[in-house]
Amino acid sequence: MSGRSILAQRVAPLGTTVFSEFSALALQHGAVNLGQGFPDFDGPDAVKEAAHQAIVSGINQYAPSTGLKVLREAIAEHGARFHGHTGIDPDTMVTVTSGATEAILCVLLGLVDPGDEVVVFAPVYDSYDANIAFVGARARHIPLRPPDAAHPTWWFSPDEARAAFGPRTRLLLLNTPHNPTGKVFTREELAFLGTLCAEHDAYVLSDEVYEHIVFAPAWHVRAATVPELAGRTVTVSSGGKTFSLTGWKVGWIIAPPALRDAVQRAHQFVTFATASPLQAAMAVALRLPDAYFEGLRAQYHARRERLLAGLARAGLSAQAPEGSYFLLADISQKGLGDDLAFCRHLVTRVGVAAIPPSVFYPPEHKHLGRGLARFAFCKSDAVLDEAARRLEAGLR
Ligand SMILES: Cc1ncc(COP(=O)(O)O)c(C=O)c1O
Repeated sequence: MSGRSILAQRVAPLGTTVFSEFSALALQHGAVNLGQGFPDFDGPDAVKEAAHQAIVSGINQYAPSTGLKVLREAIAEHGARFHGHTGIDPDTMVTVTSGATEAILCVLLGLVDPGDEVVVFAPVYDSYDANIAFVGARARHIPLRPPDAAHPTWWFSPDEARAAFGPRTRLLLLNTPHNPTGKVFTREELAFLGTLCAEHDAYVLSDEVYEHIVFAPAWHVRAATVPELAGRTVTVSSGGKTFSLTGWKVGWIIAPPALRDAVQRAHQFVTFATASPLQAAMAVALRLPDAYFEGLRAQYHARRERLLAGLARAGLSAQAPEGSYFLLADISQKGLGDDLAFCRHLVTRVGVAAIPPSVFYPPEHKHLGRGLARFAFCKSDAVLDEAARRLEAGLR
């Protein structure tokens, strides 16, 4: 063997994710796991039954690379029904992918050249920076700042946003509702970002996987419906969060035809197609009655309140997130060190796993995450209550 490293340069810096570390610790210490962001309850019976029916009725061979027509039509209908995203042509503007994760990589592969810059908000969902690096591009981060006296919700400075854009900017990578802050971008914020993109001739990837987990008075604005963004935006979403079926990995992109073609060129050689029977069932899911989507939101609202109350009893304050199923609690007054030390203490001594958010920040902004811990509330009441009981006993 040569002395060369086994690892290719593009994966060498990555290491294992913090989720693996904390899940292993949670298992080892019998901790209640509020770290990982997947529900501990299952998706709707009608949708699971539709997948079963699809398999037994023989929808088991490769789907067309862009996705089953029935699902592309359901995606277009759903966009108009919930977000006023009209005019989606299922044949030329939609590609079905293996989760939003594959979609994000394919957008970058299809639109971004080595040496280009991608503007992204920090904290960052963990796959973004790795994917940006995979295509040889450079991430430029805009820090999101926590609520304060002048700002009732997470916010960004227009000057810092402007400074992140430059002559090499190719793409703005947005996430609304945002993981892990729970921020829901307003129409005004999106319009402002649209003007920056127009000035720099940049495209937009809008990751909207939490589009149905938004709490009043906030509401979800689909970026592609904002006039300043309409012609330049690739919407990315998936059914994982909306239908509590994260293991299905059925996602999609919606974009104007020329942008869809760029993404499709990558997708055809990344996975070619996504599991056919699950696509058929996802079409049924997207057409569920309004009551399903209202119920989902109400249940998550109740879970959010339950976790906030439990944290408060343990002396941890947290801003109620506007969307997503995560919240960031303030740990700075606990005297247990920074977020990594705090989360290690929590999982080994208190019996609750949370995620240290500094891992979601680039080096220059890491300090912004040091006084916070991320808790997921996509868990059943019994699990949230047990976590609260342990936190109160262990931290009070
Ligand atoms: C912001 C964000 N984007 C994308 C994903 C991945 O979505 P999928 O499971 O559909 O690949 C997640 C999952 O946690 C997420 O939080």
